Amino acid sequence: MIRVVVAGSTGSIGRQTLEVIAAEPDRYEVVALSAGASVEAIVAQARAVRPRVVAVADVEARREVAAALDGVEVVDDVAPVCAEADVVVNGVVGFAGLAVTVATLAAGRRLALANKESLIAAGPVVQPLRATPGAELIPMDSEHSALHQCLRSSVDASREVSRLVLTASGGPFRGRSGEELASVTVEEALAHPTWSMGPKITVDSSTLMNKGLEVIEAHELFGVDYDDIEVVVHPQSVVHSMVEFSDGSTIAQLSMPDMRLPIAYALAWPERSSVPFGRIDWASLGSLEFDAPDRATFRCLDLAYAAGRAGGTAPAVLSAANEVAVEAFLAGRIAWSAIPEVATSVLDEHAVHPPTSVEDVIEADRSAREAASSWLASRGC
Ligand SMILES: NC(=O)c1ccc[n+]([C@@H]2O[C@H](COP(=O)([O-])OP(=O)(O)OC[C@H]3O[C@@H](n4cnc5c(N)ncnc54)[C@H](OP(=O)(O)O)[C@@H]3O)[C@@H](O)[C@H]2O)c1
Repeated sequence: MIRVVVAGSTGSIGRQTLEVIAAEPDRYEVVALSAGASVEAIVAQARAVRPRVVAVADVEARREVAAALDGVEVVDDVAPVCAEADVVVNGVVGFAGLAVTVATLAAGRRLALANKESLIAAGPVVQPLRATPGAELIPMDSEHSALHQCLRSSVDASREVSRLVLTASGGPFRGRSGEELASVTVEEALAHPTWSMGPKITVDSSTLMNKGLEVIEAHELFGVDYDDIEVVVHPQSVVHSMVEFSDGSTIAQLSMPDMRLPIAYALAWPERSSVPFGRIDWASLGSLEFDAPDRATFRCLDLAYAAGRAGGTAPAVLSAANEVAVEAFLAGRIAWSAIPEVATSVLDEHAVHPPTSVEDVIEADRSAREAASSWLASRGC
């Protein structure tokens, strides 16, 4: 049995992870679940999968969960339990996922990473942890899972890869002009054409910040230069990404948009899941289109490239400022078009330096949140 910790089990990734696990009950055993504050959801999950530990971040919610569950240890933080697992799924949203990423790799366990923000913000600190004996990092983001699968065909990736091509659906606002985007609503931003995801990543997809963060994630995961990572818009979300090799050959990974496939891939690695997800009916698939992203209208993409190239604390600052801006947009406090403005302003003001510890990264995150909040306050938001 593969022992699994599911951090962020009540979210979109977490729920789909439990579906994958339920599809192969003889293969997986759930050791721990965790959530922020969703009482009912995590109590129902715990009753269904009977983990040893349940972690709940919010104090009041934790009390309610403890009162509702018998025979389960209810704690505040899942990070210390990560060492008990063979594989830890990090499905927490945002910078809050950092502790799970660090604890899993430091304990020499396999990290199935959906929480891209932790790798993006803390790349210089996370990278050395990947060398811990037993530690492995298998991406769950569909694009990076695709790249991971394509790279399996390579004998020596450092010599043979000429570029990584990340596909982007283009989100709900593909093809719209800056003028048309000035007054879009939260509801419109949350109406993703091909993927059903949590609200933060869905808004990030609408601004192309998600794709920009994924460029940084790809650089951190695979060690490829920013000049050799490209983004192409592919509205059908069937080609999840591709690798071009030195001989001109391109290998792509295709499946219907279904996150359970990259989740199952990371759980079962190095084997393959025996249950199929996202199988393609080729006869009815229709055409697949590819186009260049509109970088002038969707400025977050180039902003992320710039932060990635700057390195050091810049990606942490970009990610934190973006989190604050997206929260403000979701709460109706700022316009959608203000999201890149907040991120640009905070990044411009920041003096980039190399973080050498988790504390350095936490400080960069804290100061960027403070700067983003000041930006909002100065405009009465
Ligand atoms: N959804 C997708 O298809 C998808 C695809 C690729 C990558 N990702 C990445 O996967 C991550 C999760 O995305 P999602 O869409 O699943 O998000 P989501 O639906 O919003 O779920 C987030 C999860 O994190 C938990 N959480 C929030 N704050 C927490 C805290 N302070 N401490 C501990 N747990 C906390 C939430 O608990 P509560 O329910 O209690 O709030 C929930 O379980 C993100 O980094 C995202 O970029 C997602």
